[in-house]
Amino acid sequence: MSLKIEGQKGLELRAILQASPDLKTENLVSCFTPMMWSGESLALIDQRRLPTEEVSYVCSDWERVALAIKEMVVRGAPAIGITAAYGLVLASQKTSTDDLDAKRSMLDRAAEGLSQTRPTAVNLFWAIERMRSVWTSVGLLDLDRALEEEAVMIHLEDIQTCREMGTHGAALLGENVSILTHCNTGALATGGHGTALGVIRSAAARGQLKRVYADETRPFWQGARLTAWELHRDLIPVTVICDSMSAHFMRLGQVDAVFVGADRIAANGDTANKIGTYPLALIAEAHEVPFYVVAPKSTIDLSTHTGDEIPIEQRPDREVTHCGSQQVVPDGVKVENPAFDVTPASLITAIITEEGVINRGGYEEGLAALFT
Ligand code: MRU
Repeated sequence: MSLKIEGQKGLELRAILQASPDLKTENLVSCFTPMMWSGESLALIDQRRLPTEEVSYVCSDWERVALAIKEMVVRGAPAIGITAAYGLVLASQKTSTDDLDAKRSMLDRAAEGLSQTRPTAVNLFWAIERMRSVWTSVGLLDLDRALEEEAVMIHLEDIQTCREMGTHGAALLGENVSILTHCNTGALATGGHGTALGVIRSAAARGQLKRVYADETRPFWQGARLTAWELHRDLIPVTVICDSMSAHFMRLGQVDAVFVGADRIAANGDTANKIGTYPLALIAEAHEVPFYVVAPKSTIDLSTHTGDEIPIEQRPDREVTHCGSQQVVPDGVKVENPAFDVTPASLITAIITEEGVINRGGYEEGLAALFT
């Protein structure tokens, strides 16, 4: 499965890259981006420290990139993939040898290390495979530059893709709408703009938005800490609610639509996303509120037939037993911490990708058609 922006748009992006001797993303990306490629290091906003501190986490080798992904310095399916791609550029740059096989072996090792970080978001594996297609085909002299170009392409394509999904999603909405969202799917979780949050940004830009309800998203608080930070920064009206409040606001008729992102979409449309997405879909169904999944093609995994096959990451107990440094569960009590759940396709009103909208009932054919 490959996602490359083909045709005129792809040529334009490629031309920008080739006209830029210096591939620093600050020279290429005009919108807010939480990751900056300098040409020899990757600077990430440390998302663990938001919203109270904006601290940069600089990676100069792939091992530190892997740690950043594992420890959630950076998170969100597309952002994890882009970060891993830059990690592979660093692995290549740090391996100075005149032996192509040795360099390729080193890249294989780095790819293996990066792929061990988080199991659910398929964008990680997609980006690694896309980078692998470069190091298995390009010669030694051109390899560093070719990998760097590919990583920057993956980054730029993701921003472009998010903008397209934003346009498709906003077209589904009327005027003065209230949207509920879960987790963080914004610029922090992607190359920029966002998936579900990209739709919200596009709707806000078109004057369609009344307000956003952001679920706090226990236990890692991506909604309260990150979505609220991003939207507030963009002056988009956001109200944070506890995860358990969504039924209340839907019953009051105060939610017009739910928009969420995805970490992996199976061939039949079943969707893994942040824990708490599945109950939200059930509540939306009960209140006849449309429930939309917004994700790029790089999140679709046709080799996974149904949601039952999606590996679900189990995260450390401490995220549940503690709220920051405050212990909230008695010592010795067992807890569970699955990071994702699977929403059955039957509960999803439509899936929005960069290529358009696929409605319920047409997922199997519609998703397959995206790759033919
Ligand atoms: O554990 P996280 O914070 O990486 O989980 C993120 C999500 O579940 C997002 O909804 C998903 O990756 C889509 S992000 C555009």
